[in-house]
Amino acid sequence: MEKDKLIYGLASLATPLGNTPKGGSEQGRIVEMIRPSVILSGGKISRVLSESEAGMLETGDYEVIDGTGMTLLPGFVDPHTHLVFGGTREEEFSMRLRGESYMEIMKKGGGIASSVAKTKGASFEDLLATTRKHLMGMASHGITTVEAKSGYGLDKETELKQLRVVKKLNDEGIIEIVSTFMGAHSVPPEYKGRESDFLDMLIEDVLPSVKEEDLAEFCDIFCEKGVFSVEDSREYLKKCNDMGFRLKLHADEMSDLGGAYLAAEIKAISADHLLKASEKGLQAMKEAGVIPVLLPLTAFSLKEEYADGRWMIDMGLPVALGTDFNPGSSYSYSIPLMAALACLQMRLTPEEMLTALTLNSACAIGRGERKGTIEEGKDADLVLIDASSYRFLPYHFGVNQAAMTIKAGKVIYT
Ligand code: NIG
Ligand code: FE
Repeated sequence: MEKDKLIYGLASLATPLGNTPKGGSEQGRIVEMIRPSVILSGGKISRVLSESEAGMLETGDYEVIDGTGMTLLPGFVDPHTHLVFGGTREEEFSMRLRGESYMEIMKKGGGIASSVAKTKGASFEDLLATTRKHLMGMASHGITTVEAKSGYGLDKETELKQLRVVKKLNDEGIIEIVSTFMGAHSVPPEYKGRESDFLDMLIEDVLPSVKEEDLAEFCDIFCEKGVFSVEDSREYLKKCNDMGFRLKLHADEMSDLGGAYLAAEIKAISADHLLKASEKGLQAMKEAGVIPVLLPLTAFSLKEEYADGRWMIDMGLPVALGTDFNPGSSYSYSIPLMAALACLQMRLTPEEMLTALTLNSACAIGRGERKGTIEEGKDADLVLIDASSYRFLPYHFGVNQAAMTIKAGKVIYT
């Protein structure tokens, strides 16, 4: 029988507590323990011990993980990525540096459309290999759970191909992947001006197969000026919900279309981006219990203004943070950069940022019961950072401090 693991010698541990999203003054309430030890058993956290309790343990009974001088945190949960895609778009990055905007490039047939073409052209095996490499990169940053959206197919065959890649990699168990169907990511040229016909095609032709093969838990749509309107998004997401999918949406990123308000109306689990969301929309989200997922790496890469995380938390909303990893607007899963931007640009405190990266992001993908905190009975998804406290995350900015990542009790990166 496999021995239980004992994480020993730690400088500290920091974690939010509970299973539900924390907003307002609760978002910054975390527990810090000095020189604790933690026992992992059967993929779960079985005991969290104070320094004096740990002093009485027989270490020989355990497989010991030496955490000397380090800080133990809940594994980071990334609740928003476009993980599976063919090719890359570095030439568009250069175009943007020369002054062209993301939406201009998209209108010219670049942007998402160019990744769609490359994803159609990629084999299942190629996508599998590239995505596996990205998952390892995420694990090396301390990420233990990631949400993955499809949406670089826009046709049945390619959307299913992306989702099957996710399923296969989730079965491999590197890091846990939560799957979202996002066929409604862009309007294919043959459907221009007939957006609702395209959405009907997704409902009638694609989603039944997604359901049958159990390929996704959530549905998402890019509700944005020039992409899908609020009316079309409402109708589409309601149908998705009727089919048994939970809802997310890309809302109010480049313009205040009323996406936040729609998220509240249809009781989405999260509304993501929200750079331009109105106070009325955010207030409605708060009342409906919708989690705002903020994506500072996208704002950084597109040189947009940052979503006002400080304001949202002060309104009582539980802010979560995601990387938005994708080949266009955010080709990064840098937790260190995200942590720094969240504190320096969105004005979160280090404690609020930690809750945003762990418990609130776990709740944004329906995993709050099992993940996001270091508490007995939760999944043993953990990251050891090479620092004496969590305060170093934003302070030692831009530097990857993850020294070891543990997923379901197994070391997946060291
Ligand atoms: O969240 N907004 C739409 N989707 C992505 C970008 C995808 C792409 O450019 O390929 C986003 O930023
Ligand atoms: Fe996105």
